Amino acid sequence: MIVTIDGPAGAGKSTVARMLAQKLDFDFLDTGAMYRCVVLQGRRQKVDWKDEDGLAQIANELVLEFDGTLVLLDGEDVGSEIRSPEVTALIHYAADNLKVREAMVALQRKLASEDDVVTEGRDQGTVAFPEAECKIFLSASAEERARRRVEQMRQAGQDVTTEEILEQQNLRDRQDEAREVGGLKAAADALHVITDGMRPFEVVEHLERLVRIRR
Ligand code: DC
Repeated sequence: MIVTIDGPAGAGKSTVARMLAQKLDFDFLDTGAMYRCVVLQGRRQKVDWKDEDGLAQIANELVLEFDGTLVLLDGEDVGSEIRSPEVTALIHYAADNLKVREAMVALQRKLASEDDVVTEGRDQGTVAFPEAECKIFLSASAEERARRRVEQMRQAGQDVTTEEILEQQNLRDRQDEAREVGGLKAAADALHVITDGMRPFEVVEHLERLVRIRR
């Protein structure tokens, strides 16, 4: 069975998708991490960001593994490095590159062919798995998403204001929504879940019920 969870940055997708996969005993696919690894590898290989074919070649040669909560690039745990602001700022070079997207979707389909999977991203229900048995579009208001992000960053010792986070978030929403191929969009048959005021475990319980009805 394939469960897709799409939605904007900061909707809590990764947290709840990972928890849901664990509850259902499904594999978990963090597809944002894949695009982030392409960028990290591009930085390491000092790619010319305007060279679309060069970046596509990096995407095609990526040696990527997911091991529980770990993201391994060439066997190295890159979980925190791929979420750095430097990688996030360059992510559009990977996400806007059609050949990179083709490589990522092929990899996602290969990984999902091996087992039941919860897969999380922007285009999982629309492009990667249009036949998925259960599609969720997870969202929350811009203010709630920014508030959660600020809380998370302050807990990690970073000094940020809600205004700057909202500004970055609005920019990423616009980039994700404007992308012609693989842009952020709910599939016509997706179930919309808005998580304002809900704790992660409440969201997971709700999603679990939605999945079990379709199993
Ligand atoms: O979910 P995330 O913030 O880690 O994703 C990082 C970026 O990767 C996001 O801004 C857009 C891109 N992305 C994508 O284009 N398609 C996906 N399926 C997942 C992520």
